[in-house]
Formats: sequence, C-alpha cells, structure tokens
Amino acid sequence: MEAQFKLLLQEWREEIHARLRHLVDEQEPSLLYEPIQYVLEGGGKRIRPVLLLLACRAVSGSVKKAWEAAIAIELLHNFTLVHDDIMDDDDTRRGRLTVHKKWAPDVAILAGDGLLALSYRILFRTHSDRFHDIANIFNEGVITVCEGQALDLAFESQETVSPDEYLEMIKKKTAGLLNISARIGAIIGGGSEDEVAAMGKFADNLGCAFQIQDDLLDITSDEQTLGKTFGSDVQQKKQTYLVIHALSHADSAGRVRLAEILSDSNTGEIEIREVRALFQKAGSLDAAKAAVSQFLASAQSNLDTLRKTPERSALFELVSYISTRNA
Ligand code: IPE
Ligand code: IPE
Ligand code: MG
Ligand code: MG
Ligand code: MG
Repeated sequence: MEAQFKLLLQEWREEIHARLRHLVDEQEPSLLYEPIQYVLEGGGKRIRPVLLLLACRAVSGSVKKAWEAAIAIELLHNFTLVHDDIMDDDDTRRGRLTVHKKWAPDVAILAGDGLLALSYRILFRTHSDRFHDIANIFNEGVITVCEGQALDLAFESQETVSPDEYLEMIKKKTAGLLNISARIGAIIGGGSEDEVAAMGKFADNLGCAFQIQDDLLDITSDEQTLGKTFGSDVQQKKQTYLVIHALSHADSAGRVRLAEILSDSNTGEIEIREVRALFQKAGSLDAAKAAVSQFLASAQSNLDTLRKTPERSALFELVSYISTRNA
C-alpha cells in the first residue's frame, strides 16, 4: 500500500506541476506574469491538492471532476505563501529567493493578488451541481486564512499567548486550507453530509499537526533541507508552539532569557541556536513532537467513520507521509 501511495503521489505531483506550468499564456505586463510564472515553477509538496483528490476518491468519486479545484487550491496556497513571505520578511522559499526579495515587495503584492484571481478563474471551471457550495466554502477558506494570519501578526507584539489562542490561530492560518481542500474534494466526489464533515475534522487535525511540525522544523532543521529561512520564527518574534511551551515550562532563568531574546530587535544565528538549546532543556521540542503525534492520531480516528476502502487507506498513508516529512 505504501509503495502504491508513493506512486500515486508522484503521478499526481507531476500532473499538478505540468498543469501549473502551462496555466498562464499571458506574458505581458512582465512585471505581473514573470513573478507568477516563477512561483508556478517553484515546486512544493502539493499536500493540499493531493488531499483534495484523495478526499474525492475516499467517497468513491472520480478525480476527473476534481482537477480544476485541486489546481485552484494550490494556486490559493501559493498566493498565501507570497504574501506570508512579505509579512515574515523571509529571504528564501522552496530553495529560491522569495518573490519580494528577487523583485520587490510591491511586485510580490501584485503577484499574490494575481495568483488569488487565477485560483478563482480555475475554480470556476469546476463542473458540479453543488458548485455554489464549493465556491462558498472556497471563499470562506480565504477569509479564514486571512483571520489566522492577522492573529499570527497580532501575537508578535503580545507578551503571552495561551495554548488555546495559539490553536485557534493555527487552525485558521494553516488548517483552514486543508479543511476546504478535504471538504471540497468530498463534495465533488458526491460525499454525504456526514462524510464531508468527517473529512473536514480530519483535515483540521492534520492541519494543526502540520503547523506544529512547521514550528519545529523552523528551528531544528536547516536552510538547505527546509528551502526556507532557518530560525525565521525567532527572528520575527512568533508565538510558536515552542515559545508558548517554553515560556511556561523553562526554569526561571530560561524564561527571562527567552523573553529577552524575543523582545530584542537584533536576533541572529547565535541567539537562534541559544533558543533551540533552551527549548531542548525545557522539554519543548519533545512536547511539540508529542502534540504532533496526538493531532495525527486524532486525524486517523476521524477516518474511522468513513467506509473502509483502499481509497480511505490512502488518506492514512498521507498522514504517515506527513508525520515523517523534513521539509
Ligand atoms: C507552508 O506550507 C506553509 C504552512 C502552512 C506551514 P507547505 O509546507 O505545504 O509548503 P510547500 O507548498 O510544500 O512549499
Ligand atoms: C503559515 O505559517 C503560513 C500561511 C498560512 C501562509 P508560516 O509563516 O510559519 O509558514 P512558513 O514557515 O513561512 O512556510
Ligand atoms: Mg512564513
Ligand atoms: Mg507566517
Ligand atoms: Mg513556519
């Protein structure tokens, strides 16, 4: 099953890549289309479109009808990344310069806007008698991500954030897109209300695991593997799972030092490594790993309500694929 899943993943990724590369015919104005093309050729794990296609199949639907929505969700995700990189002031993404560093922030704002509009253009080509619901869910998803990003931003200047506030933020900024991917896939596949709701819960848990893992990778991985700026969260004073845990579990000297580093405007490589050691000592890295496993286990139990089919098993495979990711 695992080998079969890997083959399917590879096949779908190639198809997604090819469809994205040939999506835009326009070339002028080049200040709009060049950065858009650059993003579309940049790769990525394609988790969201794959989830959408798997959700469609899990309710016995045919993926043929789901391709437009799958591409739309990946475009929407790419829009969020281009704007997120401006907000987080990051230099690299997917192993290359971010759009605002390669060009300029105003170009990246525009490229993001263009990607958002392109995502709607392709979504509108979906053939489904429930298209009205699909469009509504898609649009609500965009609003949810914006809300999550606003909370993420607000937390940067908040001294303490509670675990519940953090969970609300990541459920919106990250699980939001996985949620709509799974629900739209299930709707296109002809799923029942219960199936669509189960897929939504599954994706919420998967999304929370995904973001806590992203917080972990930001400080435990390296730029080469990640393809993203190492230690970006500490530099940006983000209230990550690790920060929130360490601020209440580190010894008092550790707490004071962490708060100090997070309020300092000049944070470099040395401070980032110091913070990592502090997280390690406070048990925050282990706590984050345990939280990831817990969310993934909840995601798997959400799948139990779906009919037992080979397609459902592929969703289990997606969970284990995500649990072992290093980028
Ligand atoms: C990055 O998403 C943004 C987060 C929600 C953490 P991905 O890790 O899915 O990014 P790509 O598409 O694979 O580059
Ligand atoms: C998720 O958070 C970003 C979006 C919702 C777009 P991050 O800011 O942590 O994502 P990365 O680490 O830059 O990919
Ligand atoms: Mg970011
Ligand atoms: Mg961010
Ligand atoms: Mg991150």
